[in-house]
Amino acid sequence: MTLGETLDAATTYLASRGVEHARLDAELLLSRALGLTRIDLYTQYDRPLTERERETARGPVRRRGAREPLAYVLGDWGFRRLTLRTDSRALVPRPETEIVVDRCLALLDGADRPRVLDVGTGTGAIALSLAHELTDAQVVATDASSDALALAAENAEALALQVELRLGDLIADARGPFDVVVSNPPYVDQAEIDALEPEVRDWEPRAALVDTGQTERLVESATHVLDGWLVLEVHEGRAAETANLLRTAGYAQVAVTDDLAGRPRVVEGKWSGAR
Ligand SMILES: C[S@@+](CC[C@H](N)C(=O)[O-])C[C@H]1O[C@@H](n2cnc3c(N)ncnc32)[C@H](O)[C@@H]1O
Repeated sequence: MTLGETLDAATTYLASRGVEHARLDAELLLSRALGLTRIDLYTQYDRPLTERERETARGPVRRRGAREPLAYVLGDWGFRRLTLRTDSRALVPRPETEIVVDRCLALLDGADRPRVLDVGTGTGAIALSLAHELTDAQVVATDASSDALALAAENAEALALQVELRLGDLIADARGPFDVVVSNPPYVDQAEIDALEPEVRDWEPRAALVDTGQTERLVESATHVLDGWLVLEVHEGRAAETANLLRTAGYAQVAVTDDLAGRPRVVEGKWSGAR
């Protein structure tokens, strides 16, 4: 079989398994497995593959056909300016979370050596991006999952970025005051899980998905360590409700930011003086 025939066969197979962007995924998987660029796939379209090359390409395509997230199969994923190691220990960082980082950067504009706490860091996407883009920031990140925290530590080491990682519930006894407490907490209702895409429902950690009241608890517990802004990613259907939660708790300047698709996804509010 030629490279082109293998690419076409992988595309057909992935499409038959319900993969949304079958061609793109086939290109990314084959190019990664064979050590080629996506352009090489087309310049070498008629080159026959060795049996060894075909065998190398088969595994990743099968994994993707089982609806394992592309980011887990590739083993890394882009988030803002970073490439993060990604696997089943943590949620795949999403584009809308990049807006959360944008809000933190805007709110910290001009701050001298700002202190930031990222609650539920997963791969470390938010914390590491802030450490990378705000070079004088002191960044602390927590997670209740030791697996997720181990992955965040691997990412911090691979990227040579300094983030203090703490295992525990929400703020995990981190010492404030912080200029920003930021979080993308789990916000899927248990009842919504079955309706999710298989990539999410069957592969991503449940503890990263299911809302067990983390947002409500964090709105309260952040007040103990915050002298500045709470920035939360929220379910698009719950932005107004979360904004009201912050107002009722005593936060000021509560605002909602839309994602690039125009959906309300980030809620922020200011808390003056840690309790
Ligand atoms: C939606 S994921 C977000 C991961 C990462 N911040 C991102 O944006 O890609 C939520 C994360 O919160 C963690 N988590 C869930 N409950 C928690 C709790 N009570 N305290 C700390 N972390 C928690 C999960 O383990 C998971 O890594």
